[in-house]
Amino acid sequence: MGRRRLMDQPSLSYNARVPTVTLTSSGKRFDAAADETVLEAAQRAGIALPYSCRGGVCGSCKATLVEGECSYPRNPPTALSGPARMRHAILLCQAVPRGDIAIQAREIASVEDIPHRRAETVVIERRMLAPDVVGIWLKPLGDDRLNWLPGQYLDVILEDGKHRPFSIASGPRADGAVELHVRHVPGGGFTSWVYESLKVGDRLTIEVPLGTFVPREDSERPMLFMAGGTGFAPVKAIVEHFIALGTRRPMHIYWGARIAEDLYLADLARGWAADVPTITFTPVLSDPEAARASGLREGLIHEALLEDFPDLADFDLYMSGPPAMVAAGRQLFIDANLPEDRLYFDSFDVAPDVLDAILRGRAGIHGL
Ligand SMILES: Cc1cc2nc3c(=O)[nH]c(=O)nc-3n(C[C@H](O)[C@H](O)[C@H](O)COP(=O)(O)OP(=O)(O)OC[C@H]3O[C@@H](n4cnc5c(N)ncnc54)[C@H](O)[C@@H]3O)c2cc1C
Ligand code: FES
Repeated sequence: MGRRRLMDQPSLSYNARVPTVTLTSSGKRFDAAADETVLEAAQRAGIALPYSCRGGVCGSCKATLVEGECSYPRNPPTALSGPARMRHAILLCQAVPRGDIAIQAREIASVEDIPHRRAETVVIERRMLAPDVVGIWLKPLGDDRLNWLPGQYLDVILEDGKHRPFSIASGPRADGAVELHVRHVPGGGFTSWVYESLKVGDRLTIEVPLGTFVPREDSERPMLFMAGGTGFAPVKAIVEHFIALGTRRPMHIYWGARIAEDLYLADLARGWAADVPTITFTPVLSDPEAARASGLREGLIHEALLEDFPDLADFDLYMSGPPAMVAAGRQLFIDANLPEDRLYFDSFDVAPDVLDAILRGRAGIHGL
């Protein structure tokens, strides 16, 4: 359906101060406050729409504007190509309704059941997992219990109020602990502190759960997983969930890194493949010398996956990790016949405030 101005649409009531957003697939409606993005308004209304970076660069919040108009007063919709904008694609994390709108977007009902909230936690364990990856385990203070879906992430709240997102590397556990795999970003404030100074007993304020990278159980299709570096964290949580469910769906797991030491839980993944006949695990190294020395497959992870599965029409695909890997994978996998609505991903972009600052500082974001 083509995009039309609201004035021509008597079916939607026009209210200049409080725009209403209608989801065409379910008929649900919610109001958007002044200058609120569609995603923020949906979250306030308890409706889960897809997102990951919240900065306008990853594209996981892409939806179609069916009626009405939106603008982008914060960040430009970097993740949308020209042709996508011509087809009325919008980015829910950046689009601000200008009057009532109707959109076609994927709703993720399973995520709606768990409202996100703040919690005070204490570090109960800290361990180096790889030369630049720190594993940290947090526990909420007192009798507080946290809930989330496997694959979701949390925000660490810094003293100045800024947020730093990290995927939770397991589903909720009986002991209440939250596992994170934190890669040290050179020049990064929070991850440098974690790498150099964080110790058992330190307190962290978190907001949890966030994100829509969660297991989709309404499918019988085989699954492909592609993780780059610490992108293994949410993949681990989702795979463990499916193993616990006893799924018969095949799961093919690809994990890419530069050197073998970066595949910090390769033995765990090898164990899954040894124990469950429907699971395969393929580690891939981008450094040719490291690949030769370790006997592991050499190359780029998305290329390795496509060599093994050139036609993705019959798969569900989950991927998480560095933005460049996710962006390359998105394009190539859709070109290999993967329907876009069966591609689930978290792109490990820097936090929205840093993205905002970088986008304000330069015209393009490529190479982030
Ligand atoms: C959904 C999601 C899940 C994630 N999960 C994980 C995970 O499980 N594990 C993991 O390791 N990472 C994960 N990440 C990435 C992680 O959030 C970032 O690496 C982290 O926020 C970096 O924080 P920092 O304070 O150390 O770095 P920041 O201080 O935010 O800096 C990051 C980089 O940007 C540069 N920078 C900062 N400000 C500017 C500026 N104004 N102009 C130019 N450059 C600037 C810095 O020099 C640095 O290189 C995830 C990201 C997302 C979006
Ligand atoms: S572009 Fe909107 S969540 Fe990443």
